[in-house]
Amino acid sequence: MFNTLKKSVAKFALKYVPKNSIIGIGSGSTVNYFIEELSNISSSIRGVVPGSIASEKKIRKYNIPIVDLNSLENLDIYIDSADKVNKSMEMIKGRGGALTREKIISSVAKKFICIIDKSKYIKHFDCCVIPVEVIPMALRKVSEEIIKLGGMPKYRENFITDNRNCIIDIHNLYIENSVNLEKTINNISGVVSVGLFCIRKADLLLVSYADKIKEIY
Ligand code: A5P
Repeated sequence: MFNTLKKSVAKFALKYVPKNSIIGIGSGSTVNYFIEELSNISSSIRGVVPGSIASEKKIRKYNIPIVDLNSLENLDIYIDSADKVNKSMEMIKGRGGALTREKIISSVAKKFICIIDKSKYIKHFDCCVIPVEVIPMALRKVSEEIIKLGGMPKYRENFITDNRNCIIDIHNLYIENSVNLEKTINNISGVVSVGLFCIRKADLLLVSYADKIKEIY
């Protein structure tokens, strides 16, 4: 059922792709559906900045040009999914481990369009797992800091990010102020980035339900 919802929101998002544009895209199963849809209009775009090696491979398969972010001043749109989105359009991302590249690309984009199925749209972030990309030599130090913040760090076994780092998933962390928490975790030495996307939120949220797609600004 969720795959059908992911597919339908991915298809719907196509209408937001400007003609002749270079767009940023993220990673994950919803984005994979979006790449498939994008392949149908590939001749009308100039290229894509991908958020992960997996997305890049898939995009190349459809002969869509890959663009280096360093060659661009900015991007019109960034399209990606999320693990959870709250009513303030804040997101938690990184279950697939691609959070850092996704954060970099989205920070350059004028508009972040987040595409999700209804199961991911929630009121509050209570009890959500928050992924953090960590430099391997800092695993212990970062874990200790997370415990001080009240969270339970869990090392993600057998997983290496595209940037050759590790992931710590934070469980049971009470979020009082999401923007402050994002800054605090990002400031721990050894943290590459945290999967809280609350400073740079979504500008447009597309949520798929069985009978409709909701557009939320
Ligand atoms: C990748 O690291 C994540 O940020 C994804 O955007 C998120 O996990 C959504 O993935 P699915 O589309 O597979 O649910």
